[in-house]
Amino acid sequence: MKATTIAPANIAFIKYWGKTNDRLTLPNNTSVSMNLDSLTTKTTVEFDESLEKDRVEIAYYGSVRIQADSGTYQRVVEQLDRIRKLSKLPLKAKVVSENTFPAGVGIASSASAFCALTLATVKASGLKLNTKELTILTRLGGSGSACRSIPNGFVEWKKGHSSQTSYAVSLEQETHWHLYDVILVVSDAYKKVSSLEGHALAHTSPYYATRLRELRNRTIQVKKGIHTKNLTMLGIASQQDAISLHCIAMTSNPPIFYWLGGTMSIINEVYRLQSLGVSVYFTIDAGPNVHLLCEEGTVEFLQQNFSTYPFIQQIFVAKAGKGARYSEEHLF
Ligand code: DP6
Repeated sequence: MKATTIAPANIAFIKYWGKTNDRLTLPNNTSVSMNLDSLTTKTTVEFDESLEKDRVEIAYYGSVRIQADSGTYQRVVEQLDRIRKLSKLPLKAKVVSENTFPAGVGIASSASAFCALTLATVKASGLKLNTKELTILTRLGGSGSACRSIPNGFVEWKKGHSSQTSYAVSLEQETHWHLYDVILVVSDAYKKVSSLEGHALAHTSPYYATRLRELRNRTIQVKKGIHTKNLTMLGIASQQDAISLHCIAMTSNPPIFYWLGGTMSIINEVYRLQSLGVSVYFTIDAGPNVHLLCEEGTVEFLQQNFSTYPFIQQIFVAKAGKGARYSEEHLF
């Protein structure tokens, strides 16, 4: 009745942006990502007959453990209820969660959080599910990208056409390619517009249909780039996809601007480095921070190169990592 899991954040090369069904979190497009080994959420869930109400405590990066705010509490309880219904377990639960990185700054903290929560709750409830079923259940938690944190390494979340056909699978294990993500944190303030609102507004952009049309070919490029370990092929397609997502956000009604001045300066610097022959490419989620995709030999150079930028608050380095897993060390 007690279980602990560790789940990674993931960075998408082909972004999930826009849904066909809100209630079931069905995406408008297939997305492709890589798990980030050093950016994780650890969660312990315990069902306890002495509890009258679910208890949810979170230790955000660099802070002490606090009670979850009402919005987060509600989302956690909904996921607990979903699993209680499946496992026919009527008990309330205590949930404690810890992050190794800042939340809400475009490093997909809700992905690792909802993934870790789902897996720990399933295990604690005694439910037996396979990987495909786990990804579907995680997806239903509302943070769709969380389902990509279940399988190992490089992952595809298939759009599907129903709840049972929209699930995530591993394209390659994390050992296939030591691809790195150097994350430049331009701001660690909570993002103003959530991905939730962004997804809902995507269809108001006049360019959204074009984005969806382009994705077919781009997704093929990204998958081929991963399979053949071709960073140029993967990197160029990832950059195009990030620009496409932000173009949709900026042309939604009302528009959403996730970028800050520093974001643009970094993009320009990446293009300058590329012109000098450095193999580095950028991608950006629903926030101002920039993810630099590169291979091992370039990591130190990039850390040094960007260490003098006054607006960069923090640099995180992660590489392709495992998916969600169990831990024997409980948080309480
Ligand atoms: C831009 O609805 O999965 O990161 O709940 O905010 O983590 P959160 O996000 P979700 O949308 C993710 C949007 C994205 C692109 C992506 O990761 O595919």
